[in-house]
Amino acid sequence: MINIKDIRFEKNVNLSRFTTIRINVTGDIAIVSSKEALKNLLLHLKKIKVNYHMIGHGANQVLLNTEAKLFIKLDFPIGEEEINLKEIYLPASISLNRMTKMAKKYNLGGWEIFTGIPASLGGAIAMNAGTRLGEIKEIIKAVEVIDQAGDIFWLAKDELAFEYRGNKFLKTGDIIIGAKLIYKEIDPNIGMKIDDYLKYRMQTQPLNTKNCGCVFKNPSPDMPAGKIIDELGLKGLKYKSLTISELHGNFIENSGDASAEDFLTFVNEIKERVKRERGIEFEFEVKLI
Ligand code: EPU
Repeated sequence: MINIKDIRFEKNVNLSRFTTIRINVTGDIAIVSSKEALKNLLLHLKKIKVNYHMIGHGANQVLLNTEAKLFIKLDFPIGEEEINLKEIYLPASISLNRMTKMAKKYNLGGWEIFTGIPASLGGAIAMNAGTRLGEIKEIIKAVEVIDQAGDIFWLAKDELAFEYRGNKFLKTGDIIIGAKLIYKEIDPNIGMKIDDYLKYRMQTQPLNTKNCGCVFKNPSPDMPAGKIIDELGLKGLKYKSLTISELHGNFIENSGDASAEDFLTFVNEIKERVKRERGIEFEFEVKLI
């Protein structure tokens, strides 16, 4: 790899610490701390014809095929806690967790919708992440993107075609680098709303364990995958270091050094049991990379 200012390359390393489920897998990653560096990197990768994958904060994904691609993680400076409420701009690499702290500090009504989601802002926008309280799209005013050719541009609100847990506005290779955000109102009760929702999430989902969020899509709103797995008595089922969460059937927890193969073997076994016993074909909600 070439040297580029503001980029730290880690070659052939265990990438477990870059995903929330912490599966052991070896690969190459670039940690990029400026837009200029990202642009130079993308131009270089284009020249040498190497594919890349934005890893964000590693939520909602399991890395399986790590060969012949470079993982990219943004680590842009976030600046002081002071934000300009008239024009809120945040880099894509900021965590939603840190934004929740901002929401509490500035009483930003509407920002409770992403409570407890372990993602970066960029990842959350790409996925239109959400909870029972709403979707991230509700508080996004414009998105700053860099494309494969290294060109930086803004997408305005009316160009942001969000979908349920996805979008139609990013093309292959596009990377979100920042966003302008809005809030709905100054709401002095926001801290309480966030704490209440977090308490509820903690009671219903294993937020403090190594997992990738929900593994399977809900076959339909009235048939949640977690409930089906629960009804089949599979909660607590183990395979090597992996366990189906006792708290929520659609979460798989990694208690140690699970590999990508372990994960695949386990989820396929769960899929087969559900197919056999309930006649339902589960689809993955987690992104298998
Ligand atoms: N349920 C059970 N047993 C379980 C799990 C759930 O009976 O083990 C029942 C619950 O009691 C409830 C119903 O199933 O009546 C639905 O459960 P929950 O409210 O936990 O929601 P979900 O449909 O399982 C969805 C999203 C989650 C998101 C929550 C809350 C999907 C696949 N999952 O879960 O998203 O956090 O709603 O908004 O759409 C994720 O994106 O990674 C994720 C986990």
